[in-house]
Amino acid sequence: MNRASFLSDDCPPMGIYETLYAFREGFGQFMGAPGTHPWSQGFPLTTQLDGGPELPSSVGVTWEDRFYPKAWGHPRLREAICEHYNGFYGSRLAPENVMVFAGGRPGIYAVLAFLKGHVEVRIGNVEWPAYLDILTQTQTSWKVVPFTPENGFHPPNAAYFDRSGLNAKTHLLAILSNPGNPTGHTRAGAELAELIALSEQEKNGILLDEAYEMFHASKGVSGIRYVKDIDQSNVFLAGACTKGLQCPGIRIGWIIASRKNIETLANFSSFGMGGVSHPAQLYAAELLEPGRVARARDAVARHYGMQRERYGKAFASMGLKVHTGDGGFYHWLELPEGLEAGELNRRLFRHGAAILKGFDCDMARPHDKEPGYRSPYASFFRFSFGPLPPESFDSDVALLRRVLDEYRADFAKSGVARAGRAPAAR
Ligand SMILES: Cc1ncc(COP(=O)(O)O)c(C=O)c1O
Repeated sequence: MNRASFLSDDCPPMGIYETLYAFREGFGQFMGAPGTHPWSQGFPLTTQLDGGPELPSSVGVTWEDRFYPKAWGHPRLREAICEHYNGFYGSRLAPENVMVFAGGRPGIYAVLAFLKGHVEVRIGNVEWPAYLDILTQTQTSWKVVPFTPENGFHPPNAAYFDRSGLNAKTHLLAILSNPGNPTGHTRAGAELAELIALSEQEKNGILLDEAYEMFHASKGVSGIRYVKDIDQSNVFLAGACTKGLQCPGIRIGWIIASRKNIETLANFSSFGMGGVSHPAQLYAAELLEPGRVARARDAVARHYGMQRERYGKAFASMGLKVHTGDGGFYHWLELPEGLEAGELNRRLFRHGAAILKGFDCDMARPHDKEPGYRSPYASFFRFSFGPLPPESFDSDVALLRRVLDEYRADFAKSGVARAGRAPAAR
C-alpha cells in the first residue's frame, strides 16, 4: 500500500508542460528533438536574428561573484533594467523600484503569494496557462473577464475594474499579459494609457506582464510610459530576458513596482530565495546594453512581424478563423465547426507536431480537470511561431494543412463523430 503523500495532490504540471508530456507519450521523443515541430512551445529563437545583435557567449566570474547575491538583485543589473525602461519609455525608475527573480514566473508567483486578503484578481478568460496554476496554488480569489469572438478577445479596460456587487473593502488587481499570450492582443497608446490610469486609481492595481514587450510593430510596449507615480501605486510590471532578449535558459526576470512593494518582495527573497545567480545576472546586464537592445528591438519586431503576417494568411486560407491581435508570437485560432483542438493534437502527435489547446488557456476551467466541464474554447488553439526559423514556414504550413484536411474529411464522413458533436463553442 502506498503511504499518503505529505505534498499536495492538486499540483499538476502547467498546461504547456502537460502537452509536452502527452506528446512524449504519443510520439516517443521530446518536443524540440530534431524532426519535431514545436508549435506548442513558447520559446523564441535563441540564435542571432537577421540584423539583430550577437548573443554573448560567455560571462566573467570573479571571487566577488561567489558571494551570496543581494536579495533584491545585482546593483549592475538593477541599474541596467532602470536604464532599459527610462531610456526607451521616458520613465523615472530608480533601482529601488526593481526586484530581480530567476525568470518571469517566480516574480509573478511572489507577487500573488503576498497579496493581502482583501485584494481580488480580475483576469481575462483566455490567458497564459501558468496564471491558473499560480492563482490556484497561492489561493488567490479571481473572477474572469469575458473573452469572446464577439468582443474580439479584447474587452474594454473598464471591464477589469468593474465594482458591481463588491463591498467597499475589496481591492482589485487586474492581471494581463500584454501583448497577450495566447491571443496576441495588445494594448498600446491611448488604450494602454487608460488602462494604467485606471490601475493607479485608489483600490485598483495591475500586474501587467510584459514578457512580449518587444513583439510589436512599435518595437516596445510598456505601461511604464504612462505611470504617473509608481511609488504611490500598486502597479506591478513583469519583465524578463526570456523572449525579446532571446534567453529563456538564463532565467532572469524582474518585477517593477513601488519601493514599498519591492521591499516586501526583497524580504521574501531573504528567507525564501537567497537572491539569484550572479553569473546569470551579469549575463543579463550584458544583454541589456542599450545599443544591443536597440538592434534587438528592430530585429524582433521585423522577424516576428513577418512571421505573424504570413502564418496568419496561410491559416486563413486553410479555413481556420484567425482571432490574433497585432503582437506576440502566437496565433489564436478557431477550428471549423465541430472540430476540436484535443483531437487535432492527437493527430498532430503522430507527425511529431503539437499545438496548445484553448482549454489550457481557459482561466475559468477547473484546475484539476474536473470531468464534465466543457470549455468554451474546445475548438480553439494557440499556434506558436516563436521557435520557428524562417525556413520551416512551407513545411509547417503543409503539415498543418494536411492533418487538418484529413481530420475535416474524417469528421464529415463519420456519423459517430456527428452524433457526439460538441455544442457550439460559445
Ligand atoms: C505571459 C508570459 N509571462 C511570462 C513568461 C516568462 O516566463 P519565464 O521567464 O519564467 O520562462 C512567459 C513565458 O512563457 C509568458 O508567456
